[in-house]
Amino acid sequence: MTTGAIIVAAGTGERLGADVPKALVRVAGRPMVAWSVRALDAVAGVDAIVIACPPGHERETAAAVGTRARIHRIVPGGTSRQRSVAAGLAALPDGVETILVHDAARPLITPELVGRLTSCLAHADAVVAAAPVADTLKHVDPDGFVDGGVDRSGLWGAQTPQVFRADVLRAVFAEADDAELDSATDCAGMVGRRGIRVLLVDPGGPNPKVTTPADLRLVEVLLGSGRIA
Ligand code: CTP
Ligand code: MG
Repeated sequence: MTTGAIIVAAGTGERLGADVPKALVRVAGRPMVAWSVRALDAVAGVDAIVIACPPGHERETAAAVGTRARIHRIVPGGTSRQRSVAAGLAALPDGVETILVHDAARPLITPELVGRLTSCLAHADAVVAAAPVADTLKHVDPDGFVDGGVDRSGLWGAQTPQVFRADVLRAVFAEADDAELDSATDCAGMVGRRGIRVLLVDPGGPNPKVTTPADLRLVEVLLGSGRIA
């Protein structure tokens, strides 16, 4: 099965507050985006990797990830995450049967996790890394006071990687309008909204997203401790 991978790396990283875009921030000795490229490059079925990078940072991104045969293209991303996915989709080769979408902000992706998700495509059109919510959830009023509890049973937090049958994901993006591309926060949401069943798979290990400086320090420790060899 041929897989095309899109790494969305075009965000500015406002909440991280670094002096370069988040995907280019160094973590455990490499630019963040390079960790994801390295993991995807080690998966046998992945033939083409497309990176959506911050517009104007194409050359720095290419230098950050180095020369790898499977890097198909580095393209400028869009003004929202899902517009960056759309830019990646347009740059993938036509023939891929499976499309994987991954956030550069999750550098702990492993080849093993990618293999596990793609093998589930035998019985689902969409398969997403996700973990059950562990915290007790509260609903708050505008003043910050709790005005209700939320039952967390059955609630999971969606992560990336997310893998899809290529024809399914392409069809969803073909019919998405501007409002949806601006507001949707992941592909699984866009797919699920159209009645397509999305299977969630727990990575079973840490797969955090780097959002804040504290996340960056956590990921530095996890990567540095040999979590990915
Ligand atoms: N992303 C993207 N294009 C955008 C916005 C986000 O490709 N226009 C990517 C980011 O690079 C990241 C992933 O989507 O890998 C998840 O987004 P997020 O963690 O919110 O990253 P940023 O948008 O860069 O961070 P912030 O919201 O703090 O600015
Ligand atoms: Mg963002």
